Amino acid sequence: MAERYDVIVIGAGPAGYIAAVRAAQLGFKVGCVEEWINPKGELTLGGTCLNVGCIPSKALLATSEEYEKAHHHLGDHGITLSNLKIDIAKMQSRKDEIVTKMTKGIEFLFRKNKITWLKGRGSFAGKIDGGGFRISVAGKDKDGKPVVDTHETTNVIVATGSKARHLPNVPVDNVLINDNEGALAFAQVPKKLGVIGAGVIGLELGSVWRRLGAEVTILEALPGFLAACDEAVSKEAARQFTKQGLAIHLGVKIGEIKTGKSGVSVAYTDNKGDAQTLEVDKLIVSIGRVPNTEGLALENVGLAANERGFIDVDDHCATNVPGIWAIGDVVRGPMLAHKGEDEGVMVAELIAGQKPHIDYNCIPWVIYTSPEIAWVGKTEAQLKAEGRAYKAGQVPFAINGRALGINASAGFVKVLADAATDELLGVHIVAANASDLIAEAAVALEFKASSEDITRVSHPHPSLSEVVREAALAADKRALNM
Ligand code: FAD
Ligand code: NAI
Repeated sequence: MAERYDVIVIGAGPAGYIAAVRAAQLGFKVGCVEEWINPKGELTLGGTCLNVGCIPSKALLATSEEYEKAHHHLGDHGITLSNLKIDIAKMQSRKDEIVTKMTKGIEFLFRKNKITWLKGRGSFAGKIDGGGFRISVAGKDKDGKPVVDTHETTNVIVATGSKARHLPNVPVDNVLINDNEGALAFAQVPKKLGVIGAGVIGLELGSVWRRLGAEVTILEALPGFLAACDEAVSKEAARQFTKQGLAIHLGVKIGEIKTGKSGVSVAYTDNKGDAQTLEVDKLIVSIGRVPNTEGLALENVGLAANERGFIDVDDHCATNVPGIWAIGDVVRGPMLAHKGEDEGVMVAELIAGQKPHIDYNCIPWVIYTSPEIAWVGKTEAQLKAEGRAYKAGQVPFAINGRALGINASAGFVKVLADAATDELLGVHIVAANASDLIAEAAVALEFKASSEDITRVSHPHPSLSEVVREAALAADKRALNM
């Protein structure tokens, strides 16, 4: 007889595994379908984020940042190093060990919470008369022979995530032409590296390989740089990245891409309309991601992906079929791990009859470049477009003693608040540790704080967080330290 679950989650990335854990905490019988096979040929949990996304990229960013510091910045402290070397194989094995630790950690969480890992590829087999759904899982038996099991469930949470978007007719071999998977696994530093797309992946992975010695050229279709960021932040970031040696060409149109024996040639038209060719040893294509809905047989339960490939959901991640929910990268909203996690918790609690809610305006964004970029809430351009009267305070890290001490005085915090009510509307940070500093702003925004509230809270001295408070004071024209 088919096993009956209260909740089956399809996909064990950050959205899916967190949904499974929260549902299990709430007392449900939970199964989670996952098919990911890692380079060692093992089935693994954790999805894009743990295997080929957030976690490995941050490991490489950390190694390359240490290397760059040792190479260029320790001299400022009077520290001299000679014979500095980077062992790329060691860097990669460190990254792989972190990934293994994290993915094994999810296996532990599954055991702890009595979640059944349904190993294989999940799809909808149909609805059950009287309520619920049948889910097929195509996997392998213990002898490695293909086998399909069918399970029954009252609720389904689709958390199948996304995959890299590729350029039409430009096959990714992850040797010469790479998406995120190849770009995280180079065995050597390419002499010349081309990147198509100056988005989050292009800037993060472009930075990794530049710091390790590659000559990096980024080709971006849009005329503006980091258009989603506040303009002051994108300007500062462009200045810093160019100074570091990233060559960023905006407003280009990519033409033919040819691979040779050991390199790639990219024809493009630059922003003046002139034909150009970029010759590189390796190319990264980072032009966004597409949702994974192929093969889910959504039609068997009366669902369909929309014209952009996403599953349509309401504000609470409910699809138009009661009992089926969808979360994470496979639905609208930012493709961010913590956004998917928040949706996973929300849906599990909704199934349990609770009344959770997500304010998507309070979800922080981070780009892990150096300096880091982080923001939450509205940009100045968005407030102008809304016709909202606002006040702004911007304070540089150069005035902060801690920033000077740790050699991280680049960048600033900008606070935007309502001109009349002082309600905090947006916080934008370009600085070292912006990823941690932004958490305070996210809490403040979620609690509908005023900018004055931030100024009334004691901040440790000396710390980078003092600049957040100073920027809130500056929004009220009463900065104390400048
Ligand atoms: P995924 O993580 O994609 O997981 C989906 C899972 O579903 C996969 O394991 C897949 O195998 C499984 N699956 C799909 N279809 C089926 C099926 N039919 N049957 C069984 N299993 C199935 N976000 C951040 O917030 N911070 C970062 O620093 C960050 N860095 C990133 C760096 C890179 C290089 C990349 C590529 C992404 C990064 N992201 C980051 C984005 C983040 O990885 C995604 O937003 C997040 O992984 C989405 O989570 P998810 O659970 O929706 O999907
Ligand atoms: P992205 O959407 O951030 O950037 C893609 C860039 O490619 C855009 O600037 C776009 O204009 C450009 N582009 C698109 N087509 C192009 C073309 N034909 N020629 C030249 N440029 C083109 O996507 P990216 O960098 O691939 O990352 C995917 C997603 O993964 C991100 O949107 C983000 O949600 C997530 N991510 C998050 C990270 C974080 O939170 N720190 C880190 C890495 C990824």
